[in-house]
Amino acid sequence: MAEKPPNMPTQTPNNEDTQTENIRCLATLEHFGFECLPTQMVNRSIQKGFSFNILCVGETGIGKSTLINTLFNTNMKESKTSHFYPKVGLKVKTYELLERNIPLRLTVVKTVGYGDQINKEANYQPVVDYLDAQFEAYLQEELKIQRSLADYQDSRIHACLYFIAPTGHSLKSLDLLTMKNIDKRVNIIPLIAKADSLSKSDLQKFKSNIMRELVSHGVQIYQFTADDSEATAPENTSMNGILPFAVVGSMEEVKVGKRMVRGRHYPWGVLQVENENHCDFAKLRNLLLCTNMEDLKDQTHTQHYECYRSNRLQKLGFRDVGPDNQPVSFQDMYEAKRQEFHEQCQREEEELKQTFVQRVKEKELTFKDAEKELQDKFEHLKRIQQEEILRLEEERRKLEEQIIEFYKMKAASETTQAQVCTSVKKDKERKK
Ligand code: GTP
Ligand code: MG
Repeated sequence: MAEKPPNMPTQTPNNEDTQTENIRCLATLEHFGFECLPTQMVNRSIQKGFSFNILCVGETGIGKSTLINTLFNTNMKESKTSHFYPKVGLKVKTYELLERNIPLRLTVVKTVGYGDQINKEANYQPVVDYLDAQFEAYLQEELKIQRSLADYQDSRIHACLYFIAPTGHSLKSLDLLTMKNIDKRVNIIPLIAKADSLSKSDLQKFKSNIMRELVSHGVQIYQFTADDSEATAPENTSMNGILPFAVVGSMEEVKVGKRMVRGRHYPWGVLQVENENHCDFAKLRNLLLCTNMEDLKDQTHTQHYECYRSNRLQKLGFRDVGPDNQPVSFQDMYEAKRQEFHEQCQREEEELKQTFVQRVKEKELTFKDAEKELQDKFEHLKRIQQEEILRLEEERRKLEEQIIEFYKMKAASETTQAQVCTSVKKDKERKK
């Protein structure tokens, strides 16, 4: 078996043609065992279990919970949400389901308060943020040194059921805005909710209006790939033709003839949810759960996640090719980034130094001005003080002169008074 075939070229092939030439198809004559590979894969997948993550985007009360319950034939008890939330939120719930020993871990994310605000412009943002956050979590796990992707609970959304209100008219601007903002991040499957409220002809017109609008606004919705297995290819092609699915949800059991079916009972008759002549529910369920679940997951990984990953890594500065269009190794890129970072640090350090010197100079100038101003003020006050001293000296001198004058006058008057007293005394003695 190890012997080299006689026609094998000795040179190493270096182009695609030579490589294909070197591959020989051999029909096996006996049983080797690798025909059992698919069985191994099936067993391993069943052991590991399956997971599927659905996002339901739609206005409050449009029928999201009822449709999910109808799809999985389970009552995932939920209370109704209020119409008065100040902003849009997301409710995440995970369920473990089992169908004939095949386990499915189903995560359902539903919008809360979508379309209830007066200004609906930012309604799509929480949805976008949620989708990106799941991609980011996966990317972080992928970039770890010790990854555990095999056990990783993948929360990336595989399908977004977008509930369109059955207006019979056209899409609302909120629908277009949201779908346009999430179409690069998730597989959008548009649904006309509560389709029982539209007549057959209105429904057809509504469907074509919606598709026309989606095409004219360049909104990418999930395409049922026709190159799938032979069994699903014709189905997928016809599915693309009936989009958006007109769905009706109900958990109510209604008697039709001798059978109990799920449907909605009206005064004029019964709408059977699973009857393809009544609505597209069965087609949607078939597509979502039987034929295209793996493709939805695959598209999420290979298309949407890949797009997020490449944008994110490019923003971080990673490149596959250098400026000369040559492939760059991770080591080279790391070195280049390190060098770039080092240079940037040096540039910033230099800028900081210059700014520091400039600011010191400015401060010095300010201090000098302030010092000069203070000096001038001091000189001025000193001058005023000296003038004041001189004035006071002058006043003191004048006061002292006045005091001397006063004492002189006092002495003179005392002498006069004494003389007068003596003469009065003499007069009195003389009279006696
Ligand atoms: P929130 O979670 O509160 O936002 O509502 P929701 O979008 O989950 O709607 P829900 O499934 O609770 O349905 C709201 C109402 O619509 C219920 O009374 C349902 O019976 C009714 N409903 C749901 N699906 C349909 C449908 O296909 N047709 C009609 N006519 N009514 C429906
Ligand atoms: Mg609900």
